[in-house]
Amino acid sequence: MSILVTGGAGYIGSHTCVELLQAGYDVIVVDNLANSREETLREIEAISGKSLTYYSTNLLDTNGLDQVFENHTIDAVIHFAGLKAVGESVEKPLHYYETNLLSTIQLCKAMERHGVHKLVFSSSATVYGIPEQVPVHEDAPIQALNPYGRTKIMIEEILRDLAATDEKWSISLLRYFNPIGAHKSGRIGEEPSGIPNNLMPYITQVAVGIREELSVFGDDYPTEDGTCIRDYIHVVDLALGHLKALEKLEETSGAQAYNLGTGNGYSVLEVVAAFEEASGKTIPKKVVERRPGDAPVTYADASKAERKLGWKAERGLGEMCEDSWRWQSHRAKQLAE
Ligand code: NAD
Ligand code: WQD
Repeated sequence: MSILVTGGAGYIGSHTCVELLQAGYDVIVVDNLANSREETLREIEAISGKSLTYYSTNLLDTNGLDQVFENHTIDAVIHFAGLKAVGESVEKPLHYYETNLLSTIQLCKAMERHGVHKLVFSSSATVYGIPEQVPVHEDAPIQALNPYGRTKIMIEEILRDLAATDEKWSISLLRYFNPIGAHKSGRIGEEPSGIPNNLMPYITQVAVGIREELSVFGDDYPTEDGTCIRDYIHVVDLALGHLKALEKLEETSGAQAYNLGTGNGYSVLEVVAAFEEASGKTIPKKVVERRPGDAPVTYADASKAERKLGWKAERGLGEMCEDSWRWQSHRAKQLAE
């Protein structure tokens, strides 16, 4: 089976490509490298011992996209490509709406033109905003706190409308919680450009000396140690969830949302402590003001994915920290050479 992976050079896409290739799928990547490097594709091939086909096409380029569908018989699409920085989405909403919404619409139109109706979409736990109840179930109220989150909600709605037009469509809306970690090989991982917005890349950059200290955004939340609680999930577990979702598309019709999380919540200070334990490094930190828009506590009810997809996250926080650290130290050495 041939799978088109948009955004396959990115953080979650690259790990998913490795798992797809190792499972025997043919992989075609479309990525304009807006937030990734072409070398990652070579690393995917080295890890898996298989080759993939790569197009540097922008998803907004209709002709380019048609060319990809004409060159290959594609069975299903996993759509990771998009912009994901919350703060940037507030500053550049049009850029976010254009890239995330239009690219998805162009992709689905190209799929229709070429008779491809199976799609796995990267949604996010951000669609729950500040949850009223935890663990968060798929039926919980939807609420966007920023333009990025709104793009995910809008795309989910567009895809539900599309799925209702023809029973040939089978679409999975995968709502990721907080992906961290990296492939065991240390050859691929998360590499944000500029100052990291997210907790784990900030911690790993402090650990290798790129940043001085971690700012902990608030310690007066109603949690045991006062810091926010999140559901961190190993990126390889997340990648494997995509393979299960693909299999499910074979036997279903319509659009379905699934939480991909572990069901466990950890505080910011617990993550820092787990990282220090895994890396042997001390992470200097100071408590600063709360970050606007942060939910105090969120973690998944991941039972639907287990029941319907036969998927469950298996890797714990210690392993996530070890793998993040292996990747960051390997990359820092590479950059220093
Ligand atoms: P990423 O930025 O590492 O990967 C996205 C990839 O898409 C990049 O390689 C980028 O070059 C490519 N891309 C962007 N715009 C494109 C375009 N117009 N045409 C072709 N390629 C384009 O991000 P990621 O962390 O791997 O996230 C993948 C998806 O998962 C995104 O849709 C993101 O919103 C979603 N998601 C991510 C997280 C997270 O914390 N990382 C959480 C929930 C959901
Ligand atoms: C985790 C915790 C911070 C950085 C974001 C997006 C969400 C999704 C996943 C894409 C929070 C605290 C962080 C720092 C800190 N992405 N923190 N110091 O906010 O749960 O989710 O990524 O869909 O849409 O919003 O993740 O890693 O930014 O923060 O104290 O320097 O770490 O306050 O409690 P978040 P995060």
